[in-house]
Amino acid sequence: MTAPHHGRQLRKNDLAKFEHTYKAEIASVSQLTAMERLYRIQIIDPEERRLFSFKPGQFVMLELPGIGEAPFGISSSPSSRDDIELCIRTAGNLTAWLARATRGMRVGIRGPFGTSFPMETMHGQNILLIAGGLGLAPLRSPIAYVQEHRNRFHQVEILYGTRDPSQLLFTFQYDLWRRDEIGLGIIVDKPDPAWKGPVGLITRLLEPIIAGKDEAFIQNTSAIVCGPPIMFKSVCAMLNEAGIPMQKMFVSLERRMHCGMGKCCRCNVGSTYTCLSGPVFDFWSVMNLKEAI
Ligand SMILES: Cc1cc2nc3c(=O)[nH]c(=O)nc-3n(C[C@H](O)[C@H](O)[C@H](O)COP(=O)(O)OP(=O)(O)OC[C@H]3O[C@@H](n4cnc5c(N)ncnc54)[C@H](O)[C@@H]3O)c2cc1C
Ligand code: FES
Repeated sequence: MTAPHHGRQLRKNDLAKFEHTYKAEIASVSQLTAMERLYRIQIIDPEERRLFSFKPGQFVMLELPGIGEAPFGISSSPSSRDDIELCIRTAGNLTAWLARATRGMRVGIRGPFGTSFPMETMHGQNILLIAGGLGLAPLRSPIAYVQEHRNRFHQVEILYGTRDPSQLLFTFQYDLWRRDEIGLGIIVDKPDPAWKGPVGLITRLLEPIIAGKDEAFIQNTSAIVCGPPIMFKSVCAMLNEAGIPMQKMFVSLERRMHCGMGKCCRCNVGSTYTCLSGPVFDFWSVMNLKEAI
């Protein structure tokens, strides 16, 4: 079984590292949709900035001084050492404050936390990157990894579904992905009059990608699936029916979290702390985690 990276109990020196809050500032804010913005966050100390690194799938705790702290998946390239990008949807108190934030505002960052997508184990394979809604935010980091190491992967397909065209995230990237010979299929649930693409659920896009493929293709394919549980359950079931083992499908399980480092017991599913053993799990492990989905 392929274990996602970094799942483990924290040692004492890990704890000290994870309790450290990096002083940072919002370097830019871009409005992506009515509800989602992309924040570029830069650690202020140049040496701390240089040493900060993360893997695709990991998350940080973002602190707004005097307001609180919340977990967000890192949405940028792991090779970028200058800043990290977080794609954030307005949901409640902290994210509403963030929606009013402007360039130069001081914030705190803890982390990075959690397991990551095992990108190196997928070298030499076909890779399906499948996102529903806000799931494209955590998927953008493994997509950037694939772009930067394009010759290490065979066929690469991004499949992305949203409710309606106004909710499409990262539209400025689509041509860049296609230019790197990455297939991109987009589907919406509720089209507007201008929409010319397919309509329906994401499984409608997946079907022609995997239907009729030979055993060699199926055996050499991995998938990363990010989105709401109802979406990744049906996608993973379809992939499994096609013959892709559950151990080669990876999902991100985003439970409510508080400390991010195994101290507060807020994120557990059974005896598993999703902040330490997740958020990235292979689908086999998720199926065996009671109450996970
Ligand atoms: C590992 C991880 C990665 C995440 N990555 C992102 C990301 O990239 N972009 C993003 O916009 N959000 C992400 N989230 C969710 C984000 O943490 C919450 O939206 C945020 O904490 C809400 O804070 P708030 O104070 O604005 O809202 P609150 O007032 O705390 O909550 C507002 C509403 O959102 C619900 N909610 C809060 N957190 C979660 C959650 N984890 N799952 C489901 N419902 C929740 C609450 O039940 C409530 O209904 C992630 C969560 C986790 C655990
Ligand atoms: S978030 Fe505190 S134990 Fe996981």
